[in-house]
Amino acid sequence: MNKKINLIIAAILFLSAHQGFGQEWIVPADKASISNPSEYNLENVKKGKSLYMLNCKSCHGDAGKNNALPLVPIPPDVASEKMHLNTEGQMYYKITTGKGGMPQFESTLSEDDRWRLVNYIMNYKPNGEPVLVEAPPIKAKLMALVNEAERKVEIFAEYDENGTFAKLKDAPVIISTKKYFGDLVIGNVLTDESGKAEFSIPETIIGDEEGYVNIIIALDENYEVDPLILEKAKVGKLKEIPKLIKGGEILWSTNENIQPWLLLSYLGAAGAAWLAIAYVIFLIIRIKRYSKL
Ligand code: HEC
Repeated sequence: MNKKINLIIAAILFLSAHQGFGQEWIVPADKASISNPSEYNLENVKKGKSLYMLNCKSCHGDAGKNNALPLVPIPPDVASEKMHLNTEGQMYYKITTGKGGMPQFESTLSEDDRWRLVNYIMNYKPNGEPVLVEAPPIKAKLMALVNEAERKVEIFAEYDENGTFAKLKDAPVIISTKKYFGDLVIGNVLTDESGKAEFSIPETIIGDEEGYVNIIIALDENYEVDPLILEKAKVGKLKEIPKLIKGGEILWSTNENIQPWLLLSYLGAAGAAWLAIAYVIFLIIRIKRYSKL
């Protein structure tokens, strides 16, 4: 019996080693020497960046921040030396075929897109020539109020100019509403010369039972800013309360008027579940007792 288990463990270890966990990733020489057909320019690097944000960032993290997921082996940062030991052909091959924790993208991304991802990675080559320069985020401050009568949000934005706040013009403001499951973007506006922007709230926004909506004002990722939450603006449509009692026939409302058969079947199911749990616990105790013999 024990021998059998040992054999199985040995087999698993052998197979996982064969899978290549932690081993060098070897790319056939003819694949490694292929040159990138996609031109290294701002447009392709930008496209590569959007693809990277959607498909790769969740594991590899942000360029240069070494904040990858702690997988084994760790997905290298796109700005790391380890990544740039690869030729462009090797990167393309690895993105195409995948290995271990790295998925293959042959079936989900086009050839062009895989090469654009290589363009994006090449932007971070140490001592290379970056075409996409990411400026550090600008510190900003937001003020806003809701004009319920005109169904408008009036926004004013400032930025930190060496310690004093100045009007922030041409900044993209993102307006969303707070929902139970994340926030829902309802529009974008740009600030004008004086740092102001106005947003008309769409008629279709649904509020709570009384028409209240929580509105969130934020700036895009180029700014470092605390989002503003405007609570309880009365600008939404009334949320309809679903009718559970239809045509005199009670489906389910409160415990008082629940139908007896429904209550019985519920209690029956709950009782059966508890019995099953008790039986499992009983079995565990028995196994423990035997194992001590
Ligand atoms: C599910 C997590 C995950 C996702 C998503 C992911 N990777 Fe990876 N990636 C890894 C892991 C883990 C490795 C290390 C694999 C190894 O060396 O065995 C890796 C390795 C790589 C390598 C080889 C690095 C080296 O050391 O030679 C490249 C290139 C790469 N990934 C690019 C990408 C690109 C581009 C995307 C998006 C299209 C992507 N990865 C998406 C997990 C991921």
